[in-house]
Amino acid sequence: MKAVYLTSFGKPGSQAFEIREAEEPSIEPNEVKINAQAFGLNYADVMARKGIYNDCPELPAILGYECVGTVEEIGAEVTNVKTGDRVIAFTRFGSYAKKVVTHSMAVQKIDNDIPNGEAVALATQYCTAWFASNEAINMYKGEHVLIHAAAGGVGTALVQLAKEKDCIVYGTASSSRKLDYLKSIGVDYPINYKEQDFEEEIRKLRGKKKVDVIFDPIGGKNFNKSLKILAYGGRMVPYGASSRERKGILSLLKVAWGFGLHLPVGNIMKSQIWAGVNMLRIADYKPELIQRCLEGVYDFYTKGIAKPHVGGVYPVSQIGDAHDFLESRKSIGKIVVEW
Ligand SMILES: NC(=O)c1ccc[n+]([C@@H]2O[C@H](COP(=O)([O-])OP(=O)(O)OC[C@H]3O[C@@H](n4cnc5c(N)ncnc54)[C@H](OP(=O)(O)O)[C@@H]3O)[C@@H](O)[C@H]2O)c1
Repeated sequence: MKAVYLTSFGKPGSQAFEIREAEEPSIEPNEVKINAQAFGLNYADVMARKGIYNDCPELPAILGYECVGTVEEIGAEVTNVKTGDRVIAFTRFGSYAKKVVTHSMAVQKIDNDIPNGEAVALATQYCTAWFASNEAINMYKGEHVLIHAAAGGVGTALVQLAKEKDCIVYGTASSSRKLDYLKSIGVDYPINYKEQDFEEEIRKLRGKKKVDVIFDPIGGKNFNKSLKILAYGGRMVPYGASSRERKGILSLLKVAWGFGLHLPVGNIMKSQIWAGVNMLRIADYKPELIQRCLEGVYDFYTKGIAKPHVGGVYPVSQIGDAHDFLESRKSIGKIVVEW
């Protein structure tokens, strides 16, 4: 089979990958093998390429958290899908390949006519948003919700899930083009954080009431700054550290220091919840939660609540360009790579 290998850390996408022949993976009794039509990119892939993602396998490595394709083989214990079904799948690396193997609970049957880009968006990005906003914490009607990186893949999903719950949504992004997009998907208060200080903007809009829920994939100082505008009884979901820019201990310490030193007593006094999210750990230790997320997300998709935005479709030969586009911070929604 063909597979895309990351061959070195720290290079631009256009120099970091090679498409090679690889041995086809075999399956365990609780696994499914998929003949993939496409795979999606996630920001964690960019971090892995830069060498700043701890869970990345040793090089040469096949990255990837998701694919869409047709079930080719199922293990003896698998009952939720059958050979020939079109599925989306959440993977623990290994999805930048023509044949992909994953746990049966990380697979969801889907309709044949769903475009590849929308399908792969529903896997990691929508499942992360779903888990973060339904399992880790909850959001209630009329609550004020701040979503950082709101025009991205996970961000778009969080906006739609918050609007479905009748929340008032504040979304940050870094360009006027992205702000137009945020308005188009229903963000009530889009904030261009390059031009406006988001903390000041929220204080102007909310005064002492602040916001009830914050989703933060940026981490470091952004987390600490966001905490200052979290209301009593508020919930904060840190789920990434995209502010880490390069390899090396100094860069790591800068982000770690930015998060600040906090004591649990502060959470008690303010009645605040901080719920960290890492979908890889969930996939490793609680695959049944991934199945619940996939079912919930797919249900929302069929009801028209989840509406993935596909911001770029690339042939596999242009995997490097796809990566560079996601890293450029110009992308909106999902980037998909087709075989
Ligand atoms: N914990 C988990 O299990 C989990 C799962 C999925 C994703 N994530 C995290 O969620 C975040 C979003 O992932 P995604 O795949 O949906 O990507 P994405 O949001 O489509 O793309 C990343 C976006 O982050 C924003 N950003 C803000 N500060 C940044 C910085 N210093 N460096 C780079 N980007 C910055 C950029 O938008 P603006 O320039 O408009 O701000 C950029 O376009 C990532 O941090 C990712 O690691 C975590």
